Amino acid sequence: MKEFFIIANWKSHKTLPEAKAWLEFMLSKKEALAKIEGKTIIVCPPTTLLSYMKSFILEHDLSILLGAQDISLFDEGAYTGEVNGKQLAELVEYVIIGHSERRSYFHEDYELLKQKTEKAKQSSLTPIFCVQGDDTPIPDGLSLIAYEPVSAIGTGKPDSPEHANDVARVYREEKEMYYCLYGGSVTAENVATFKNQEFISGFLVGSASLDAAKFFSIIINA
Ligand code: PGA
Repeated sequence: MKEFFIIANWKSHKTLPEAKAWLEFMLSKKEALAKIEGKTIIVCPPTTLLSYMKSFILEHDLSILLGAQDISLFDEGAYTGEVNGKQLAELVEYVIIGHSERRSYFHEDYELLKQKTEKAKQSSLTPIFCVQGDDTPIPDGLSLIAYEPVSAIGTGKPDSPEHANDVARVYREEKEMYYCLYGGSVTAENVATFKNQEFISGFLVGSASLDAAKFFSIIINA
């Protein structure tokens, strides 16, 4: 069976009580989640929520994995405000690198993203490397990338499933990527139009992942 990844990117959203309510909803769907085959569900919340969410997921044996939204360029040391790979590895298995918001608001360029990818690998984290088109450079040795055209992020205007599939094909075939996800205005309503595209291996979901019921529908419909 084709392995699928359904990944929630909460960005800078949610307080602790809000995260708890989201998890309680998922707990109410625990049996349905456990029965889903071939779909890996990953949530990438803000760092402040990771420890609580990890405890909740372990305590209730929920079929959900955790990811971070960023990783420090540095190992432990005097780097105020940074969270390093060793610290993240206590809490998560995945880390998003190269999201277009980090590229534009925080001026992260390819050289820096390459180094962050290396840091993730050194800490045994799997990078979810975001690309904005079929010509975005990617570091060697990645297994999971997410194609997210900037025009589709948070706009309600997703790429066409056919074009998203073409971009995924370029990475899957020409660059020997194993998994290529699509992200950008994915909803419970439109996800089915993407899921049968040959080269798309899942979804990175922003806005629609904040509402637990909507995200659960995406998981089911994907
Ligand atoms: P969106 O965001 O689903 O709100 O468009 C996707 C993303 O930026 O990962």
